[in-house]
Amino acid sequence: MTALLELRDVWAEYGPFRALFGVDLKVPPGGAVALLGANGAGKTTVARVATGLVQASAGDVAVDGIEMTNRPTYAYARAGIAHAPEGRSIFASFTVEENLTLTFRSFLGRQKVGESLEQAFELFPRLGERRSQTAGTLSGGEQRMLSLARVLVLQPRLLIADELSLGLAPIVVDEVYSTLEAIRSSGTALLIVEQHMAHALELCDDAVLLEHGKVAWQGSASDAGDVVTGRLFESAGD
Ligand SMILES: Nc1ncnc2c1ncn2[C@@H]1O[C@H](COP(=O)(O)OP(=O)(O)OP(=O)(O)O)[C@@H](O)[C@H]1O
Ligand SMILES: [Mg+2]
Repeated sequence: MTALLELRDVWAEYGPFRALFGVDLKVPPGGAVALLGANGAGKTTVARVATGLVQASAGDVAVDGIEMTNRPTYAYARAGIAHAPEGRSIFASFTVEENLTLTFRSFLGRQKVGESLEQAFELFPRLGERRSQTAGTLSGGEQRMLSLARVLVLQPRLLIADELSLGLAPIVVDEVYSTLEAIRSSGTALLIVEQHMAHALELCDDAVLLEHGKVAWQGSASDAGDVVTGRLFESAGD
């Protein structure tokens, strides 16, 4: 089966600093892959390469078997790849509704905005209650919901989510992960970047562990817990 997303021997740099050293990774259609690793291992860089935000300096990226290397971010978006980036990717001085409207208008067109807002508020009722609130004054969890709502309503074929649970209370993490389960059951493939592995491994079929910009281990998510915990502890001592 052709992978929905495939990275083959991908190298990437930020100026003189090399962040990825020949990474191979595949996400099958409808599959779910957990991307694990310590701080600075290169997880976010993989997410950026897989969405066109950072261009690979060598190797290639394919979507549905079609070469995407050096294509701009909108080409990835058009191919159905959505990115919920690390951090709070929202416009802090705009309201919840304005944030959503901006995204929906630019990706779906003016006519779809009303319907998409309804969907977003159905998915996250808390955002509906706070539609007129300035996004910068939402709680951390609510801000995560807002960035997730922006990409989910676009009904991506693959959602790349980077550290969605960072800094969230356990109960909110549970909420975010049950939303991801629902997204997965609707057929959307997932590439989940997480440092806190338990939830990600429960949700995913496969896991890839990055260490210093290289794939150090990959296998089934059910085997990953033991292997990865051991290695993360080892690499923390580097
Ligand atoms: N914009 C940038 N400019 C220069 N170096 C960068 C940039 N972004 C990341 N790096 C470097 O690339 C390496 C990989 O970073 P990356 O953000 O991919 O790691 P990560 O696995 O996502 O880490 P974390 O768990 O802390 O989010 C790090 O050493 C980081 O300092
Ligand atoms: Mg990161």
